[in-house]
Amino acid sequence: MILSQLRIHQFRNISTVEIYPIEKFNIFYGLNGSGKTSLLEAIYYLGLNRSFRSHINNRIIQYEKENFQLYAKFGSLEVGLEKDIHKKTTLHINQQLANSITEITKQLPIQLIDTQSYEFIDQGPEFRRQLLDWGVFYVEHSFAALWKSYQICLQQRNSAIKQQLPIKEILAWDEKLSQAGNKLTELRVSYITKLLPFLKETLQQFTFFSALSVDFKQGWPEAMSLEEAIKQSIHKDLQVGYTTLGPHRADLVIKSNKISLKDSLSRGEKKLLVMIVKIAQGKLLKQLKNLTTLYLIDDLSSEVDKFKQAQIMELLEDLAMQYFITTINKLIFNEYANTTQLFHVEQGNIVID
Ligand SMILES: Nc1ncnc2c1ncn2[C@@H]1O[C@H](COP(=O)(O)OP(=O)(O)O)[C@@H](O)[C@H]1O
Ligand SMILES: [Mg+2]
Repeated sequence: MILSQLRIHQFRNISTVEIYPIEKFNIFYGLNGSGKTSLLEAIYYLGLNRSFRSHINNRIIQYEKENFQLYAKFGSLEVGLEKDIHKKTTLHINQQLANSITEITKQLPIQLIDTQSYEFIDQGPEFRRQLLDWGVFYVEHSFAALWKSYQICLQQRNSAIKQQLPIKEILAWDEKLSQAGNKLTELRVSYITKLLPFLKETLQQFTFFSALSVDFKQGWPEAMSLEEAIKQSIHKDLQVGYTTLGPHRADLVIKSNKISLKDSLSRGEKKLLVMIVKIAQGKLLKQLKNLTTLYLIDDLSSEVDKFKQAQIMELLEDLAMQYFITTINKLIFNEYANTTQLFHVEQGNIVID
């Protein structure tokens, strides 16, 4: 399914805009501060009911206004969302009042690649885990519920640790925690096993990435069962005040000949690497679930040289998903004129080029 109609009202510097995106490349060019990232933020908001830039809605509502409204049509689904300073959010799916955005999220997988994407390599495991779980969520339907029950047990165990309850009461959570943890780890492993061939195939196309290895770390020593591992770590847990082992500490470790990529890759290369991972995920999702991923790519050209930009465009062209790409330079899209719609963004207004 593709996003075929989009309306934005009083969202950041965008006053009122209505556009009809095309199936493939939707390119938004304009000067800094014109509203390009805001447009991507609005699409993201429609799919997930949250922003990737701010947790505070009042910063997103246009200055001096009291609400913003978003509307989109994709496939036969229509979604409308309104945030008001004073009232609760109202969400409509196919003109019916809805409580949760999940129905939309499930059918509209969104991958964002923005100027912070290099953090995927530079930061701790959280970003990589999130990306991994993005895929598991779409491929394995039981994942969301398992993850939730794991989180609940983990919170209970952590709060017992913090209150320094008797060890017996802390360990009482271990069985349930391990049950959910084992199951969700199985789903992660099964997903990674399916993803790796796609990822390797794409990495091969880039000489400087061809020696990369990708390793899944489950979050506790491989040789131990989860139950054993958390039981053994109880004294350490009591010292630090939380549960130190388990699937909540899992990681996707990407290395080149055992060298950490954090210090050896440029920011542009890091961005490219994240993009490759996300492209592989989109490819897999299409194959397994026939779902089209919507890619939001902010500032494609920043930190990425012309040669790599051309390589990325080739990958995206092959992948054949729907793209919303912002840029300050529209020239590189000339080659893809047949599958591209250019939009000019100027002071919060968006017009077809
Ligand atoms: N709540 C808001 N209301 C109005 N304008 C805003 C709001 N928040 C941010 N802005 C402004 O919107 C403009 C567009 O920002 P942005 O979308 O990041 O531009 P671009 O990505 O094109 O550089 C900026 O000038 C910013 O100051
Ligand atoms: Mg921007």
